[in-house]
Amino acid sequence: SPGLQTTSDSIQRHDEGHEKYADVNWDELEFGVVPTDYMYTLSSKGDEFSQGHLTPYGNIELSPSAGVLNYGQGLFEGLKANRTEDGRFLLFRPEENALRMKIGAERMCMPSPSPQQFLDAVKQTVLANKRWVPPTGKGTLYLRPLLMGSGSVLGLGPAPEYTFLIFASPVGSYHKGRAALNLYVEDKLHRATPGGTGGIKSITNYSPVYLAQKQARAKGFSDVLFLDSLTGKYIEEITACNIFILKGNVISTPTIIHGTVLPGITRKSVIDIARDFGYQVEERVIPVEDLLEADEAFCTGTAVVVTPIGAVTYQDRRVEYKTGKGALSQKLYETITGIQTGRLEDKKGWTMEI
Ligand code: COI
Repeated sequence: SPGLQTTSDSIQRHDEGHEKYADVNWDELEFGVVPTDYMYTLSSKGDEFSQGHLTPYGNIELSPSAGVLNYGQGLFEGLKANRTEDGRFLLFRPEENALRMKIGAERMCMPSPSPQQFLDAVKQTVLANKRWVPPTGKGTLYLRPLLMGSGSVLGLGPAPEYTFLIFASPVGSYHKGRAALNLYVEDKLHRATPGGTGGIKSITNYSPVYLAQKQARAKGFSDVLFLDSLTGKYIEEITACNIFILKGNVISTPTIIHGTVLPGITRKSVIDIARDFGYQVEERVIPVEDLLEADEAFCTGTAVVVTPIGAVTYQDRRVEYKTGKGALSQKLYETITGIQTGRLEDKKGWTMEI
């Protein structure tokens, strides 16, 4: 179908006649796909991205020889739009996602939309799907930007054409009820290697974790923590989020300098907030032993926000941590969601009103 024009006028027009909220049971929201009204597409010929457009949410057409299907030339991002109590829509640090996609695109030999094109696309996607933004406190509208090699290739090499696409879905918490995680420390399978793509949001980083996740879930664990692939001694990342540990007044999180840990935007924000709270925060190489001796552990990410870790199992050792009220993870969660939803003053200029 032909693209809809992307002027704010046209979005306004599509908005008219729409009720304030889509027909969703907001109390039952999980982290899953709920088809919304519109998606946004921006295509490139060579390195230049043209004018983008909104179209009704639906299937896309790809050549069977598309670079993304054959050789995994693709990146994704994740960010959220929140509805404030007084009916405004806030994005959280979206320029960080734009920048991360640009850096990832360089590693994957793809052209990327400019930060301005990225932000414009995100805003248009939210405005066109306003009625899918959950009521404050019931969830968020998750935005999923994708950048993919959509042109045909057969011999190995970058695709001749690219597609940038954003779709949206209202989501609740990633782990049901934000239940504390029961983590398995995976000591055989790995997620990332130095010189690889672990530090960018390449689509190729994600499905390889399924086997470890499946094996751990079969044993009753909720998720998996990966160790560095060179020595197997240091903690790196959970399947879909970063990890932090607390010992005394010191908070530590695995360093991103080796390119094996994703530079999470929630990770970066939590580091700042924790320093404001008076904690010493270290980005460093963290031996598994430090995790086993921590007072508290938690994970961070756009999807998981800040989720407490209730227990970890490494080989034959199981350790439990403080969770719930009074835990640092709870205080960080309240602060970050407070800023994201406009309940707390945004002193850092992290939110962007649409
Ligand atoms: C996010 O937290 O937004 C992510 O991109 C992780 C994804 C696997 C859900």
